[in-house]
Amino acid sequence: MRDLITFDEENKVFHLHNKDISYLMSIEDGKTLSHLYFGKRVNGYHNQLRYPRVDRGFSGNLPGSLDRTFSRDSLPKEYSTSGEMDYRTPSAIVRNPDGSNALFLKYQDYSIANGKPDLKNLPHSWVKDDNEAQTLTIKLVDEVSKLEFDLLYTIYRDYPIIARSVLVKNNGDDSIYLEKASSMQVDFVDRDFETITLPGAHANERHMQRQRINQGVHVYGSRRGASSHQMNPFIALVDKDTDEFQGDAYGFAFVYSGNHAIEVEKDQFNQTRLNIGINDYNFNWKLEKGAEFQTPEVIMTYSSKGLNKMSQNFHKLIHDRIIRSKYKDQVRPILVNNWEATYFDFNEEKLKPIVDDAKKLGIEMFVLDDGWFGHRDDDNSSLGDWKVFKKKFPNGLGHFADYVHKQGLKFGLWFEPEMISYDSDLYKNHPDYLMHVPGRKPSPSRNQYILDLGRKEVRDNIYDQMVKILDSVDIDYIKWDMNRHISDVFEHDLPSERQGESYHRYILGVYDLMNRFTINYPNILIEGCSGGGGRFDAGMAYYTPQIWASDNSDAIARLTIQYGTSLVYPQSMMTSHVSVSPNEQNGRITPFDTRGAVAMWGDLGYELDLTKMSEEDSQKVKEQVKDYKAIRQVTQYGDLYRLKNPKYGNQAAWMVVSPNQDEAVVTWVQILSYAQNYLTKTKLAGLDPKKHYKDLATGEIYGGDELMEMGIYDPVIHKDFASKMYHFKAVD
Ligand code: GLA
Repeated sequence: MRDLITFDEENKVFHLHNKDISYLMSIEDGKTLSHLYFGKRVNGYHNQLRYPRVDRGFSGNLPGSLDRTFSRDSLPKEYSTSGEMDYRTPSAIVRNPDGSNALFLKYQDYSIANGKPDLKNLPHSWVKDDNEAQTLTIKLVDEVSKLEFDLLYTIYRDYPIIARSVLVKNNGDDSIYLEKASSMQVDFVDRDFETITLPGAHANERHMQRQRINQGVHVYGSRRGASSHQMNPFIALVDKDTDEFQGDAYGFAFVYSGNHAIEVEKDQFNQTRLNIGINDYNFNWKLEKGAEFQTPEVIMTYSSKGLNKMSQNFHKLIHDRIIRSKYKDQVRPILVNNWEATYFDFNEEKLKPIVDDAKKLGIEMFVLDDGWFGHRDDDNSSLGDWKVFKKKFPNGLGHFADYVHKQGLKFGLWFEPEMISYDSDLYKNHPDYLMHVPGRKPSPSRNQYILDLGRKEVRDNIYDQMVKILDSVDIDYIKWDMNRHISDVFEHDLPSERQGESYHRYILGVYDLMNRFTINYPNILIEGCSGGGGRFDAGMAYYTPQIWASDNSDAIARLTIQYGTSLVYPQSMMTSHVSVSPNEQNGRITPFDTRGAVAMWGDLGYELDLTKMSEEDSQKVKEQVKDYKAIRQVTQYGDLYRLKNPKYGNQAAWMVVSPNQDEAVVTWVQILSYAQNYLTKTKLAGLDPKKHYKDLATGEIYGGDELMEMGIYDPVIHKDFASKMYHFKAVD
């Protein structure tokens, strides 16, 4: 039954729809696939939005046509190419054997199928059964080169989400080069959008940035070989007055972890084009006769109720249909990580008391971070040598893991599988594994180098080494780190004319390696990391159900980082730790309670030396751990509502509501304290207006409608960085 996708033969209109959203396209003159509408569900369409015919100077017409009123340069399209009459940002650029970039795509055919095809070798959203989604494939063909672009659109029945990607097929007789291949394009007419993006830096990731779009091209992207701290692969297009609870919000998340480009162009007629795909910087993919190229996927959503709803749409889809790990629905363990506690200066004897204390405090997992392998006493050596450092673990790592397990804790271990140090056995034995351009000295970063992971041989070597550890030591969790960006890009096994494939092949290599662990070691919980949140993207979610959000563990800095992160990613995916004060990254002194309250936004952990804490702080950890265990099912998996944005004010507030609206946890944080401050209120959200809720701390009972419509006064606390948490439960 094709109930989610229909094709109107007469008007040549495709309509993808579910109960929330509609997406419409039409086949226009010149067999041009044109964009019609994306937004709130409409029941039908009666051709009233046929693009008006206007003679536009300097916007040419279809080849062979005398009609001056139709131009591919102004028509809203679904995919646009180099070498056609469209001067706006193209989705695809090719280099033909004759050296030209001509490519003129015409609609040829379509098919509709139940379910959703897997994207080979790439992370993607998936379906549980074929009934929950339908996929439309629209075939666009260039008649001369015989190059075919299959535009894939999957609409889910119960999620307001469309997944888009493109499969390019070379049906011609010659090789061609793909110089750009976006995963999707969409054109909007007569919209005065603002963009919301998530730029940042190391230890300062995903700061919400809102900008008006004027005529010209705006590119938000990464050329770092990773999705990056600097620009997360996400964009929202919103109206000027859209806020957390009202207004149109179109969200797009790229399910990819390498170089990306999000291009927004406002054209001469005030129309807005959005292209998302692999960044065309240093991208040049040789497509031989008969070969195919699958682009990564974009998941897109529309909310008529502002940003919170947009985020919830993403959270649900990413949690339910991108993450695969068996841990996706299990409460995540509270861990203690030794990184900020000891850095490289540890051995088994020094770690044991931390484990003992963790047990006493109710913590559930001990994570052994960087420095347990090779001869690594600092960050100058041993990456690539995944063998236990005997000096630190004279009895072997298994002995220490057993100790941790005997204390009733799980045991987690840090790896940085994509890297190599000059000072390593791996480099001595395989210098060619280090990614470099022959004849040139590669650039170090943190005195380390990248492995040429596009090569299977290199991946096999790392996999085999890691598996030896996993098979001999009882390991419950892996922290998969990546602590530099890519440079000196060159893949040893590729001929010169294919070197433009190296960036993408690198990330495909990473995916292959990660996939081996997710498939072969399904019981291991894998946490992603890249110098904190440098690869926090929807692609990684397919392999790592949780990711370390930032190396910045200061509670106040984390407010903005976590606020931004929550625009796209579910809170169960975001790990967050309580660390020492003054904070090691920015020196800020914050109260213990606030550090706990902020860390409880995500999966709570501790990153400090438990043995060096005051008795008072130890007691606080014990209480936090106990409290968190009581709320984490709700906070990790409930519906998140952002209430106050710390970027635009002196407070942050957010809350999480259980799916049955019976329970809610609200967190409020004040940044600076002021004398004679104005009184402020926080209005709650997402509760059932008809239910009554008890504040578990005070026993007071309030109506859901009162809490949402009238709100509650925020506490008056004359202390910087103060916070308060509320736990409400519905009562009969
Ligand atoms: C990165 C991570 C940290 C820690 C160090 C170890 O910076 O984000 O949490 O694991 O590496 O070198």
